[in-house]
Amino acid sequence: VVLYDRTLARAEGEAWDVDDTTPLLQEADVRPTDDYAELAGAAVVVVTAGATQRLGESRLDLLGRNAGLVREVLGQLDSAAPEAVVLLVSNPVYVLTRLALEVTSRPAHLVFGSGTLLDTARLRYQLGTAFGAAPQDVQVHVIGEHGDSEVAVWSGATIGGVPLAALPAPPGMTLGAVKDACLETTRRRGPAIAERKGYTSYGVAAAVARLVGSVLQDEQRIFTVSVPAAPAYGLPKGAVCGLPCVVGQGGIQRQLVLPLDSTERGLLARSAAILEDAYAAATAPPAASTAPSVVPPPASTR
Ligand SMILES: NC(=O)c1ccc[n+]([C@@H]2O[C@H](COP(=O)([O-])OP(=O)(O)OC[C@H]3O[C@@H](n4cnc5c(N)ncnc54)[C@H](O)[C@@H]3O)[C@@H](O)[C@H]2O)c1
Repeated sequence: VVLYDRTLARAEGEAWDVDDTTPLLQEADVRPTDDYAELAGAAVVVVTAGATQRLGESRLDLLGRNAGLVREVLGQLDSAAPEAVVLLVSNPVYVLTRLALEVTSRPAHLVFGSGTLLDTARLRYQLGTAFGAAPQDVQVHVIGEHGDSEVAVWSGATIGGVPLAALPAPPGMTLGAVKDACLETTRRRGPAIAERKGYTSYGVAAAVARLVGSVLQDEQRIFTVSVPAAPAYGLPKGAVCGLPCVVGQGGIQRQLVLPLDSTERGLLARSAAILEDAYAAATAPPAASTAPSVVPPPASTR
């Protein structure tokens, strides 16, 4: 693994810390660098570079800075590692993935974002806990925004192959109350962790590890990642949001089209509209981006 940071000391600090685990865990060797050229030949590049909000800075300002960052990073990667799969993790992940797709010279299937994979994992965990079942046996997708407007696809949710509605609700609760509580906890999970430890790390790291593993081993696992929505979803052209895809060699091999019910369709359209506003705000020329008519984008989540 080559670990790039523009500040070599930061790359060294992270890389050396991981290196110290190798005699104990037999994981990969991590090489720190501040030179993009060292990424040559990489099969997958994970982009986690991200500006964080400065005191007094608006979300729009932050979006603008991160948009510039993605243009810069993709330009460097297109020279250094043009055939790599590029996985965007930095927030707001849907805006940055869409921008990356626009500026890169590589084919679209090689570029995607971590999307709502972490949110899906969080909801599976919450439901497993509520219903007393292993989260691995809970099947449900969270789609749309990685954030407040994300949509749980309840119509397809099962535990051990049994539709949620056919299962006995946990004692003292209705199914509706369990679903609401689990989704609310999922939505609040990133900020709740960040409030307590300052940032999130293990959940997103596990999500990234699964994605990278699926590409490297051509596992063809299905994950809700940030991609341009298939036309069958009826969203505006180019809209990028979290949707289930087959991830394997070459990145995105195929996008699944979920048979959403009418409520879920409406919620996905609403989520996509929020993302469109954020994208428009991030890419608007400076004069327009400060106009009062611009709808503020949603908070980036973790
Ligand atoms: N998608 C998800 O599910 C998810 C989850 C957690 C975090 N995140 C996002 O991941 C990003 C990183 O989070 P973090 O906690 O590691 O932040 P961090 O501040 O610890 O790290 C950001 C790194 O980016 C580097 N950087 C900034 N500008 C750069 C540039 N122009 N070129 C190269 N490097 C640059 C900084 O040097 C720093 O090392 C954030 O955007 C965060 O919101 C996403």
